[in-house]
Amino acid sequence: MKDLAEPERDNLRAPIYLAHSAISPPSAAVADAVSRCVADFAQRGAAAFGDWLAVKEATRSNIAALIGAEAGDVALTQGTTASIVAIAQSIAWKRGDRVITFEGEFPTNVTPWQQAAERYELDHVQLRTSDFAGDAQRGLDSLEAALRSGRPRLVAVSAVQFATGLAMPIAAMTRLAHAHGAEIFVDAIQAVGVMPFDVVELDVDYAAGGSHKWLMALEGVGWLYARRRCAEALHRTSAGWLSHDEPVSFLFGGPDDLRYDRPIVESIRFVEGGTMSTVGIAALHTSTSLLLERGIDAIWTHVQSYHDALAVGLHERGYTTLRDSVPARRSGIVSYRPPAPLTTPDVVAHLASHRVAVTGPIGVIRIAPHLSNGLHEVASVLAALPMQTGR
Ligand SMILES: Cc1ncc(COP(=O)(O)O)c(C=O)c1O
Repeated sequence: MKDLAEPERDNLRAPIYLAHSAISPPSAAVADAVSRCVADFAQRGAAAFGDWLAVKEATRSNIAALIGAEAGDVALTQGTTASIVAIAQSIAWKRGDRVITFEGEFPTNVTPWQQAAERYELDHVQLRTSDFAGDAQRGLDSLEAALRSGRPRLVAVSAVQFATGLAMPIAAMTRLAHAHGAEIFVDAIQAVGVMPFDVVELDVDYAAGGSHKWLMALEGVGWLYARRRCAEALHRTSAGWLSHDEPVSFLFGGPDDLRYDRPIVESIRFVEGGTMSTVGIAALHTSTSLLLERGIDAIWTHVQSYHDALAVGLHERGYTTLRDSVPARRSGIVSYRPPAPLTTPDVVAHLASHRVAVTGPIGVIRIAPHLSNGLHEVASVLAALPMQTGR
């Protein structure tokens, strides 16, 4: 039987696809969901809209199930950036509040805080992600020192570092932030879908992600979680027409139903201010249903086995792993540095020409398999590596 989680392999230029930390190629099931959605709008136009609202609701529930939240505390957005910008511009900042971000992060989780710092005259501090390797103590000490001075308000960090694959000690960072009266915002796009990430267990205040990586859907749809009390305290800066109570009632009612005084909803759903990509949501509904069906624990075990198998061969060939020796610091991403004289661009291009897709951000070879990658691929990946001269 055809595996619905698999991309259409015949369509894939690189049938061994190890770049899920960048963009996941749509699986057969996702492609089918998108076609069905487009066909429905093609046939019914506006009449289709109401039916797809149910899919939007179910998608929020799927995200909630993946992150251990209540569906009412999850909003859909246009992506991780949109989620972070919404919060960065909605917190009731006071001049001089300290916001702590990290060097080495993907800029998505830095730029919006820089902008907020400029606009609201915040005290922006940058720490180093590399200090959180291993037992993470050096990093936790640096975080505590930054939280001890000034007026700490928010720590913004990614659950998994995009290039090194380092899984940050989110629970410990959250405990420290809370002990000093600050909140924590976690960009979880490189975690959710491939490894356990539970907002209640971790006790985080905000978390966000997008669809097109480990969630295996399309670009253009993201999600945002906010603890209820935090959501209630936000300014409604990014509210739009769909942020009100009963926002669409006027579309079906009489002239008196068009009102502007309906309250803005109390939950984080206020960020869903306007119409969204229904096609993107249809894709995300299907992909998250598949992920939930397979189970994140099983996916995590599978991906780690894949990395274990590949690590042996890469080590023998002189590649240096960036995978942390402490299992709690590991993620779905394992990156390598090639043996000299090979360079990362050489290796990425050579693998691509042998139909193996990996990515090479900031000079490292980044390998990111998912549930659709079989362990049988490992020998082919190793065989596709470039020859090393002088060894
Ligand atoms: C950690 C991290 N955050 C965010 C993004 C992307 O954010 P957005 O989907 O909003 O462009 C990426 C990668 O593209 C990433 O690696």
